[in-house]
Amino acid sequence: MIDELRRLREEALDAFAKARDAGELERLRVRYLGRKDGLVSGVLRRLGSLSPQERPSVGAAANRAKKLLAEALQDRLGEVTAARPETERALDLTLPPRRKWRGSIHPVSQVIDDIWRIFESLGFARARGPEVDTEWYNFVALNTPLDHPAADEQDTLYLAPGLLLRSHTSPVQIRTMERYPPPIRIMAPGMVYRRDTYDATHTPAFAQIEGLVVDEGVTFVDFKATLAEFARRFWGPGTQVRFRPSFFPFTEPSAEVDVKRVIVREDGREEETDWIEIMGAGMVDPAVLDNVGYDSERYTGWAFGMGPARVAMLRHGVRDLRLFYENDMRFLGQFT
Ligand code: PHE
Repeated sequence: MIDELRRLREEALDAFAKARDAGELERLRVRYLGRKDGLVSGVLRRLGSLSPQERPSVGAAANRAKKLLAEALQDRLGEVTAARPETERALDLTLPPRRKWRGSIHPVSQVIDDIWRIFESLGFARARGPEVDTEWYNFVALNTPLDHPAADEQDTLYLAPGLLLRSHTSPVQIRTMERYPPPIRIMAPGMVYRRDTYDATHTPAFAQIEGLVVDEGVTFVDFKATLAEFARRFWGPGTQVRFRPSFFPFTEPSAEVDVKRVIVREDGREEETDWIEIMGAGMVDPAVLDNVGYDSERYTGWAFGMGPARVAMLRHGVRDLRLFYENDMRFLGQFT
């Protein structure tokens, strides 16, 4: 009977291991461990036919086998039920697919890239400078005295005395001229920071793109012609450009540059837009050239600073500047 028990045990363990689901295991439980007709119970029932000396050891072996099989069955049941939901999940065709995220260029960066490509074809190089800068680079070297309103704490984000988040990309003009002799033709895109209220047309952090040209014999005609050429390449050949007198401490004369575009309406008719201001610009003030050690009798130049987010608003008909800076994928995902 001990041999019979051993055989039963091996057979049962083998069957449990092969079982695939809870139903099959339940049938095996009844077959081996069932109270009435189970095979192990059958052995126990036959104990009576043994001699009193044999009975205790065979009885103990049968109980051990019963306990071992009950545990093995429980373990296997745990395995098959844990495996099942996994399989079902893998096969659930009603779930929405997991889409791959595909990144795209931010609409403001797209504008910067497009502006850059035009100036690159005109012979400009790319330059950059730090976002944390000193009063010297941000104001003083740019001919802006520290009592100028732009340098006021109301307008500028100071980090420490004399150290601030740059309020425009113009300090890159100074840094470039300090490092390189003329001729200079650069474009410098980057973030700038001002103490502005966050509203539909202002954000305290925004992108600018700076342009600077310095060489012998550079005139106001070069300045106007290059910017007009840029505007026509960027917005189309019908684009008109207007230079309005203005003031910046680092340019003289200074101008605000406006464009009037021709847009094609849905019904196919062409329509002129209003004048829209796109940049501040002007002829580089000789004092700025003196500050970097250039000979201001020999060299002249012009510069501009443009806000690509404004340009992106015009391009896409977006009315609220904040949308570009809130990282809402539903919005940004439309500009791929
Ligand atoms: N730095 C000026 C601004 O941020 C723009 C500018 C750049 C004007 C270069 C003239 C020349 O308002």
